[in-house]
Amino acid sequence: MERFYHITTYGCQMNVHESEKIAGILAELGYKACENIEDADIAVFNTCCIRENAENHAFGNIGMLKKLKSKKRDMIVAVGGCLTQQIGKADILHEKFPYVDIIFGTHNLNKLKEYILKKQKQKKAIIEIEDSEGIICEEDKPLRTSYPNAWINITYGCNNFCSYCIVPYVRGRERSRRSENIIAEAKALIEDGYKEITLLGQNVNSYNNGTDDISFPELLQKIAALDGKFRLRFMTSHPKDFSEELAKVIAANDKICNNVHLPVQSGSNAVLAAMNRKYTAENYLQKVEILKKYVPDCAITTDLIVGFPNETDEDFEATLKLVKEVGFSSAFTFVYSRRNGTVAAKMDGQIPEEVSKQRIMRLVELVNSQTREQSAKYVGRTVEILCEDFDKKKGLYLGRDEHGRMAYFESQNSVIGEFVNVKITAANGVSLTGEIVKE
Ligand code: SAH
Ligand code: SF4
Ligand code: F3S
Repeated sequence: MERFYHITTYGCQMNVHESEKIAGILAELGYKACENIEDADIAVFNTCCIRENAENHAFGNIGMLKKLKSKKRDMIVAVGGCLTQQIGKADILHEKFPYVDIIFGTHNLNKLKEYILKKQKQKKAIIEIEDSEGIICEEDKPLRTSYPNAWINITYGCNNFCSYCIVPYVRGRERSRRSENIIAEAKALIEDGYKEITLLGQNVNSYNNGTDDISFPELLQKIAALDGKFRLRFMTSHPKDFSEELAKVIAANDKICNNVHLPVQSGSNAVLAAMNRKYTAENYLQKVEILKKYVPDCAITTDLIVGFPNETDEDFEATLKLVKEVGFSSAFTFVYSRRNGTVAAKMDGQIPEEVSKQRIMRLVELVNSQTREQSAKYVGRTVEILCEDFDKKKGLYLGRDEHGRMAYFESQNSVIGEFVNVKITAANGVSLTGEIVKE
């Protein structure tokens, strides 16, 4: 009899990739993927807790499963990811949702197979949250779902302890994978037909800090030197560790995309200091200068937070000023969310919701207007797009250029996984539309 699995993923690319690893484990156990959770014999929730709404979202969806589980008693429900790893959260989950069969932490992913086999034989729920300083797994067999892109972890965890952020508490200390394993994984993926490799880490620039293995720019160089036509991306770069050497490596290698995600968070030095980001607005702008010097057409994207404790109107204006100065090609904008256990959660001067709302609206407006302006400049140009998918609703193929800009276009036959030249005919806000041009 066929058995099916369904995975719901919340949070960042790292979690998306982790879900591919979960899928690999489930496939090994003989399960097949299904689209609707109602058809699943095992439902996994891979959670996130970066902001309160991510947490609420997961809680809501797990709650909705109660009815289904009462009809389908043999169904296994498992909850993993960052949410479960917060102190006390596994018990809260168990209490609130007694029908959840397996609760596992971020450091227990490699034991999921064991838990499922055990659960198939016992009634009692399995709750295992390891408080680890750093497990590193080199033997994952992910079932990749994002062709033509493939994610590769290069580091796990984080040592930076930005005062607002929960990640160091739920992902443990930073540890780097061996470079020979990463390069071998990239090589195998390219030989397998993947056209884009994205290296993942909370702060890729500190890869191999304090070890005898190669640095991040050296790693990039080695992967870019592999045979085949492919794109190489990486995220995320912490500005404090962004180096001139890295800018030079991007400039010297065509396969490394001219697109860097460099989260600034705020343009105010007082806020940056309170956030424990370890750079000033001036330092950040210097790094941007260096990057632009070596890679003039680099698309720089960023993350921004408004409403951090004690953020004044002047602090917020400084953020707007910096955004204008850099001219980001796009930005993720967030309202500060208080995370229990972090340093900022204990700070006085939490900002009223109304004030944060006003600020985020103004920031989004500015960021969007910059993105629109940059999109408009594409019209009439021909760009190389890596086709990623087919949008059924629009009836169009879609893909990105090396700067990460999305373009939609028509094609008679499938070009998913191919590089195509697309002449841009219109810009509609963030995305573009165009026509394939034959050489
Ligand atoms: N390691 C990456 C970021 C990972 S989290 C880096 O340092 O750049 C992704 C983004 O979520 C962060 O850049 C930040 O902008 C946002 N974020 C993290 N914690 C947050 C919080 N408590 N409230 C609001 N946004 C937050
Ligand atoms: Fe969080 Fe800062 Fe680490 Fe990024 S660098 S994951 S924002 S603590
Ligand atoms: Fe990612 Fe969310 Fe965890 S952003 S690292 S899944 S808290």
